[in-house]
Amino acid sequence: MAKTNLLVSLIFVLSLLCSSTADDPYRFFTWNVTYGDIWPLGVKQQGILINGQFPGPQIEAVTNDNLIINVYNSLPEPFLISWNGLLQRKNSWQDGVYGTNCPISPGNNFTYILQVKDQIGSYFYFPSLAFHKAAGGFGGIRILSRPLIPVPFDPPTGDFTLLVGDWYKANHTDLKTTLDNGQMLPFPDSLLINGRGWNGNTFTVQQGKTYRFRISNVGLMNCVNIRFQGHTMLLVEVEGSHTLQNTYSALDVCLGQSYSVLVTANQPPRDYYIVSSTRFTNPVLTTTAILHYSNSAGKPIDPPPGGPTIQIDWSLNQARSIRWNLTASGPRPNPQGSYHYGLINTSRTIRLANSAGSINGKQRYAVNSVSFNPPDTPIKVADYYKIGGVFSLGSIPDNPTFGGMYLQTSVMEANFRDYVEIVFENYEDVVQSWHIDGYAFWVVGMDGGQWLPASRNSYNLRDAVSRCTVQVYPKSWSAIYMPLDNVGMWNIRSENWARQYLGQQFYLRVYSPANSWRDEYPIPKNALLCGKASGRKTRPL
Ligand SMILES: *[C@@H]1O[C@H](CO)[C@@H](O)[C@H](O)[C@H]1NC(C)=O
Ligand SMILES: *[C@@H]1O[C@H](CO)[C@@H](O)[C@H](O)[C@H]1NC(C)=O
Ligand SMILES: *[C@@H]1O[C@H](CO)[C@@H](O)[C@H](O)[C@H]1NC(C)=O
Ligand SMILES: *[C@@H]1O[C@H](CO)[C@@H](O)[C@H](O)[C@H]1NC(C)=O
Ligand SMILES: *[C@@H]1O[C@H](CO)[C@@H](O)[C@H](O)[C@H]1NC(C)=O
Repeated sequence: MAKTNLLVSLIFVLSLLCSSTADDPYRFFTWNVTYGDIWPLGVKQQGILINGQFPGPQIEAVTNDNLIINVYNSLPEPFLISWNGLLQRKNSWQDGVYGTNCPISPGNNFTYILQVKDQIGSYFYFPSLAFHKAAGGFGGIRILSRPLIPVPFDPPTGDFTLLVGDWYKANHTDLKTTLDNGQMLPFPDSLLINGRGWNGNTFTVQQGKTYRFRISNVGLMNCVNIRFQGHTMLLVEVEGSHTLQNTYSALDVCLGQSYSVLVTANQPPRDYYIVSSTRFTNPVLTTTAILHYSNSAGKPIDPPPGGPTIQIDWSLNQARSIRWNLTASGPRPNPQGSYHYGLINTSRTIRLANSAGSINGKQRYAVNSVSFNPPDTPIKVADYYKIGGVFSLGSIPDNPTFGGMYLQTSVMEANFRDYVEIVFENYEDVVQSWHIDGYAFWVVGMDGGQWLPASRNSYNLRDAVSRCTVQVYPKSWSAIYMPLDNVGMWNIRSENWARQYLGQQFYLRVYSPANSWRDEYPIPKNALLCGKASGRKTRPL
């Protein structure tokens, strides 16, 4: 970018912001979102491209950077991008989901102004409206540690991103029509790695060197398993937490989750398969990429290694083996473990049960029997202007009701600084993946059967990992502890995209009566306004 251009952008941004720390560096992005031809499975499809790319460009940042991302919507329909895992402290205004932001209308743009304050790790962004996620528009996010903060492993020779996910040959409008008609989606056609099918990507490594692979499941319907033929993976990071460095030969990555592993090229020089396959499905979808030694003697040896398929205990045991390294630094120099999450008394327990059912003859999904009904005005915006008739607080109960399913714009109230225990209870036969925007939480326990207060005796109150997306196995529960330290309107959702689209989500309104800029930023000056908020003023310059 030219210097004057940069200066203009900087002045624009500083005029918008009174809030972020001016000393922290700014990174500017201009993104043009278009339709374009892609051939992930050899047949031409309409993909959602960002600056002509599928997947979209990667965001590279360092802890505390300000990210200024101007998104031009060149699609013929409304569009928004959201950030899977960015904490966006005090700033749900930038979350880019239907409950927080008005859509960017066709031909218009919106500048997201985010700060990756006190955060490290691997995440991704994705298009949040309609069923756009089935067409692309996603990309990796990596937040590196600040230079003087120790990282608990040697700098790898290379740092690769693997965006893995299931994929349909049907386009996103046809998939959305299926859901709108009240039917469930068919089984996906394939898996993609970085937007490509079988052997579509090659990662070149030098013998004897170690590489970081940041693996995110950006798919729609299924957990995946990842393995490197002939190599092991050393797990080092999960969604911003440095983990105990366990070795795995196969790793499950459920919907919306991100993991960093180190792979050392310590085998005879040739090519090897990187394999991804669906978990808990029949049939099993598989796709591969190539790990290519720069001095390779030849193609990989067939067949690609098989992995676990329907085994649930295997996956549960692996999930439990993932621990926080208490002595490693996180985003700050002090050890992660200096926050003793297990010694703090929780002030509230929220139990959330997913369910499937039908309303007016159409397939729906619900949380505590409430199937989320998107309003015409973003909940956050309606809350700010005190516009009635959009949502009501307490419109979702704190506990499962096991009653009939109903539609509602569900918003749960919560107090800033509460310390909550949330138990995700899965009475269904399908694995669930739950994500909370604006937060990381400790996964203190998971097990089969029904959760009971006595289940707390099995909680890991010492070194559970802190993350933003947790799986819940079939007929099982997962429990988390979460300090409500981020005021805002935050989406809690299924990462199974058909389920979230058909109602398995709601909003948590974390409220501070202080109404102070110290706790939450005011509405951005460039906020888009729509629905019942059309024509309102944002705030004076
Ligand atoms: C976005 O890309 C389209 C197609 O290449 C182009 O027509 C349009 O001018 C671009 N818009 C911006 C804001 O760059
Ligand atoms: C659209 O981009 C222009 C040019 O950078 C910027 O001035 C404007 O604020 C952006 N619009 C929004 C709503 O962010
Ligand atoms: C935990 O982190 C420390 C500090 O960086 C490191 O020395 C140690 O090897 C790590 N332990 C494990 C088991 O990964
Ligand atoms: C999706 O495919 C249908 C035909 O099956 C077509 O009418 C529609 O325009 C396509 N949508 C996109 C976004 O390509
Ligand atoms: C937690 O609650 C227990 C029992 O009510 C009490 O004894 C203890 O002091 C509390 N701990 C903290 C840190 O507040």
